[in-house]
Amino acid sequence: MLFPDYRPRRMRQNEALRRMIRETALSVDDLILPLFTIGGRNVKNPIPSMPGQYQLSIDNLIKVARKAHELKIPAIMLFGIPEAKDPLGTRAYAKDGIVQKAVQSVKEKLPELVVITDVCLCQYTDHGHCGIVQGDIIDNDATLDLLARTALSHARAGADMVAPSDMMDGRVAEIREALDENDFSQVPIMSYAAKYCSSYYGPFRSAADSAPKFGDRRTYQMDPANALEAIREVTMDIEEGADIIMVKPALAYLDIIYRVREEIDLPMAAYNVSGEYAMIKAAEKMGWIDGSRVMMETLTAIKRAGADMILTYFAIEAAQALSVSNFKK
Ligand code: PBG
Ligand code: ZN
Repeated sequence: MLFPDYRPRRMRQNEALRRMIRETALSVDDLILPLFTIGGRNVKNPIPSMPGQYQLSIDNLIKVARKAHELKIPAIMLFGIPEAKDPLGTRAYAKDGIVQKAVQSVKEKLPELVVITDVCLCQYTDHGHCGIVQGDIIDNDATLDLLARTALSHARAGADMVAPSDMMDGRVAEIREALDENDFSQVPIMSYAAKYCSSYYGPFRSAADSAPKFGDRRTYQMDPANALEAIREVTMDIEEGADIIMVKPALAYLDIIYRVREEIDLPMAAYNVSGEYAMIKAAEKMGWIDGSRVMMETLTAIKRAGADMILTYFAIEAAQALSVSNFKK
């Protein structure tokens, strides 16, 4: 097919023709909204590096969750900011912990909204690591039981799905076993399977107050230089019982999303993380880019790379844009 016989511009002449040959359709069904919840009442603390995102007390959390539900966003992902931290992160698996209470309230008010909980210890430990610390080492095997307890306590509170983000080896199997032994065999696991040690998490760490107090997460999160290892990580988590696998972050790792899609037939999520959100919001504020178009282009790219679902702080804005019209050039 050579010019002038083939003219690709023929099919780009108007929006109707472009719609007919569009290969990737972003849908509200693809979106998952991450939300931060904190104790108290009528709290709505703005997160400075994430304009439009807040630490929400449960009453306000319900309002945002309801808005998401009304826009037909199928799911939210909950992160908790606890009232106290300690070396073992005990508030992560407390029956009356912030996430446990929030899950209960959201499910009571909005039973059809899927509530996914982030399972990790870093917001709950005083040292800010995702696992138990022995000296300056993050102890993998000693952490597994606490992660399983956390996931189980979320399920008991009514979580529809649990999402371990800690990157300890073997945690999916441990969580699956704990859920199954306690009659939660129907609760799926969305595993943060290929989670990179990324500086794009910066805004999240101030939002969730979860930055490590010493060292970094390089001994458990993946090296950004590695791609083959992502396939091994994903394969392991599937063998351990993951129902959905995740690649995180998304935008700088579209090649990983693509590679995983080529190799793996399980549903795949990608996490459009806080730093990706912050950069678009900041450039928009400077008047340097059209923020909402860059948002839709970004989400479409993540979908085009192969993700089935996208965790994004843009979920509400994107759902609104999708309901107004299809993405127009
Ligand atoms: C904690 C966790 C992080 C994110 C989700 N869960 C941060 C980290 O690993 O330090 C990042 C999310 C984002 O940046 O939007 N385990
Ligand atoms: Zn963590």
